[in-house]
Amino acid sequence: MSQDNEKRLAAETAAFKYVGNGPRGRIIGVGTGSTVNFFIDELPQYRDYIKACVSSSEASSERLRKLGFDVMDLNAAGRLDLYVDGADECDANKCLIKGGGAALTREKIVAAASDKFVCIIDATKQVEVLGKFPLPIEVIPMARSLVAREITAMGGTPVWRDGVTTDNGNWIIDVHNWRIADPVGLEAKLNQITGIVCVGLFAARRADVVIVGNREI
Ligand code: A5P
Repeated sequence: MSQDNEKRLAAETAAFKYVGNGPRGRIIGVGTGSTVNFFIDELPQYRDYIKACVSSSEASSERLRKLGFDVMDLNAAGRLDLYVDGADECDANKCLIKGGGAALTREKIVAAASDKFVCIIDATKQVEVLGKFPLPIEVIPMARSLVAREITAMGGTPVWRDGVTTDNGNWIIDVHNWRIADPVGLEAKLNQITGIVCVGLFAARRADVVIVGNREI
């Protein structure tokens, strides 16, 4: 099966099982990326089940609105019971690398506000050890070099994603050459560095359910 077909299948499976089999009229959290775009395109058939959505990016909000869904501010929505999003890498413990699409900060916020985080991926995203995919880190622009020096001292190779500004007006550093054996420890350590807004390592709050194609793990 092609990568796109596997993404579509994971999106269909998540929509059927976690939206179509859930209660009617609820507010759901929606992530960002090509896999989530397949998920969003599934949602019109479950319209009765969705009162509104909270989205992790301007791109997803626009796609949802085009399909006629209300997009709410998280502050008004309160706690969510479901968040569906993709990932760039996923290990056996459901720890993730996210942020390939630069939406990591809002994704982490919506994940933190949700009781169940359902991650939808294709098999190429499954890894034994995280880190082949460069770890995205959102930084305050003036702190870019400061953060890069700290990362270098920690053994990573920081590369500025030049030309990309996040929905929050910040910049992204991608850290190459890191074998992330201790995702929880590294996430906690990086969270201490001044100038970092958010780390694309989802370990403390990882996925609860991972769907690969039509397989749930
Ligand atoms: C967006 O910033 C990312 O976290 C995406 O969730 C991740 O990059 C997965 O994207 P695809 O579904 O496009 O592979």
